[in-house]
Amino acid sequence: MDTMEERAAVRDKDIMMAPAEIRIAPPRGFSRAAYVKNMEEYESLYREAEMDPEGFWARVAGELAWFKPWEQVLDWQVPFAEWFVGGQLNACYNCLDRHISTWRKNKAALIWEGEPGDTRILTYLELYREVCKFANVLKRLGIRPGDRVAIYMPLVPEAVVAMLACARIGAPHTVIFAGFSAEAVRDRVLDAQAKLVITADGGYRRGKVIPLKERVDEALGDDSPANRVIVLQRTGAPVTMRPERDHWWHDLMKDVTASGCPAEPVDSEHPLYILYTSGTTGKPKGILHTTGGYMVGTYYTTKLVFDLKEEDIYWCTADVGWVTGHSYTVYGPMANGATVVAYEGAPDYPEPDRFWKIIEDHQVSIFYTAPTAIRSFMKWGEEWPQRRDLRSLRLLGTVGEPINPAAWEWYNQTIGRGRCPIVDTWWQTETGMIMISPLPGAIPAKPGSGTLPFPGVIAEVVDEGGRPVQPGKKGLLVIRRPWPSMLRGIWGDPKRYQQQYWSQFPGIYLTGDGAVQDEDGYFWLLGRVDDVLNVSGHRLGTAEVESALVSHPTVAEAAVIGRPDEITGQAVVAFVTLRGSIAGDDKLKSDLQDHVGRVIGSFAKPREIKFAAALPKTRSGKIMRRILRKIAVGDPSVGDITTLEDPTLIARLREEED
Ligand code: PRX
Repeated sequence: MDTMEERAAVRDKDIMMAPAEIRIAPPRGFSRAAYVKNMEEYESLYREAEMDPEGFWARVAGELAWFKPWEQVLDWQVPFAEWFVGGQLNACYNCLDRHISTWRKNKAALIWEGEPGDTRILTYLELYREVCKFANVLKRLGIRPGDRVAIYMPLVPEAVVAMLACARIGAPHTVIFAGFSAEAVRDRVLDAQAKLVITADGGYRRGKVIPLKERVDEALGDDSPANRVIVLQRTGAPVTMRPERDHWWHDLMKDVTASGCPAEPVDSEHPLYILYTSGTTGKPKGILHTTGGYMVGTYYTTKLVFDLKEEDIYWCTADVGWVTGHSYTVYGPMANGATVVAYEGAPDYPEPDRFWKIIEDHQVSIFYTAPTAIRSFMKWGEEWPQRRDLRSLRLLGTVGEPINPAAWEWYNQTIGRGRCPIVDTWWQTETGMIMISPLPGAIPAKPGSGTLPFPGVIAEVVDEGGRPVQPGKKGLLVIRRPWPSMLRGIWGDPKRYQQQYWSQFPGIYLTGDGAVQDEDGYFWLLGRVDDVLNVSGHRLGTAEVESALVSHPTVAEAAVIGRPDEITGQAVVAFVTLRGSIAGDDKLKSDLQDHVGRVIGSFAKPREIKFAAALPKTRSGKIMRRILRKIAVGDPSVGDITTLEDPTLIARLREEED
């Protein structure tokens, strides 16, 4: 609970600021037109869901298209849930086919910008045709329902096409963020036993080309389960094609048509995707989401949390490599028939007003991004957004980490010009959908709080024994009841699933986050209570970085902690002891940083490496991270160190500091 206490100390200030006068009511005009217009309506919806969750979710599910109706809404064999049992549907059908039989066929589905400035707009009909063609390609390459397909691409329209084509034929995808290394690709392909990898010759990031195909070549040895690779030509960068394994996307697409590819009816519990995320061990876990419940949860939360209307232009800035890109760029918005904006590159390329220019050019009305990005924009200065016309915006959102009230206020004033509600949405890869968030027309915001749970979500703050704590008291955030888009497991590891999420309080989902509820029942998130870091909204396990470090020949032992950082939320600091008589210097520091970049991906590179003669440990051999965290921020009080194996070590660690 150390981390929580420290975070809570930082957040106390925010929570104290919370009393009623800080509530920011939704603008009246916004509420009038919203799906949920006031607190009474929210409360009545919440009560309806609380009293009859199955009836509530069944009503929502009725808004989607099913090939065969379900026989039972929920089968809950703790901790294994099945939703809409016996029902059959298809996620891609719900995102595309459903719309093209209406006037929406001519509506823009995807407005896309590449980093160099190229743009493409695909209507629902055009996207549907591309997806059907690519689904035919997959079938020709022998991909069958249930086969796993890895997607390692930049954020280009073809990444969305690939995801939806997989869903269309019932092949679960596993998208690997383009920032991950070859080694990370290898591990994920192996764990998922993916038969095929879809990649590109490269992707653009801050004017540079990320060599995706090269990394795939490095990742797939002769023993790889993936014996086919499809390569999209995105940058024209030279790549080596292995004729027996590699195919160009454009060649394959020449030989197929869009016909003869109906969406495969799949069971409600058929796997839709696996997405790897960091946990408390060195090995990322494959979070499994299935079809029916996931679509119901993402469809409905997109509609209500973003108050999504037919004419909105909706932009979530997340990459499809993360869960936010899955739920709130692809499946949720497209199930609603929304016009979705996507952008391939960096927010400051070629200039720090790129996002604002995109909003102006495409008349974006809903904008959803991460607090880290907002803090970077603050640093770059108000002049960048001020140059652009942002009047099309009507709703703002944040996700991925707590937002500090100063950043909230800046977002509200400088971007929203004081007239757009802000939805601070709390959720996780595991939850699949937004769990705690204001409904923007109904729930007054308090800057820094995710406010109240979504209808159907029973969230609570409990102590270590599982007892609810009083308002104002810190505790563990748990979810009391199953919800439709909850993870169904960890791929290939049911034990770990049970152990990780359901063992501390049987039948109750442990989120891994600390939280406080205030007197109004509002939730204030305190960050992770386990050894998971959140760097720029990217989730990273301390054990993952440690195991990358110790795989370097010079490293004997490593301990990784998160240090609070004004921009990125947390920054990775690594304490490293070296083997034998190896001496640490700046060159080795930068080698180690690069090494972590090679093993995981450059976003995981430690901001700082500190060499130490030894690491502080308890007598039972556990590394005392609490002490390291204090040393990392230069805190003179190290607290109780009576359990420290070698109390003189602190002084020595500090000396090494100086
Ligand atoms: O600690 C919480 C933080 O991000 C974690 C989930 O990370 P990930 O699975 O990568 O999903 C990120 C996008 C949904 C959570 O355990 N987190 C997410 N949203 C918020 C947040 N912390 C505070 N406020 C939020 N709005």
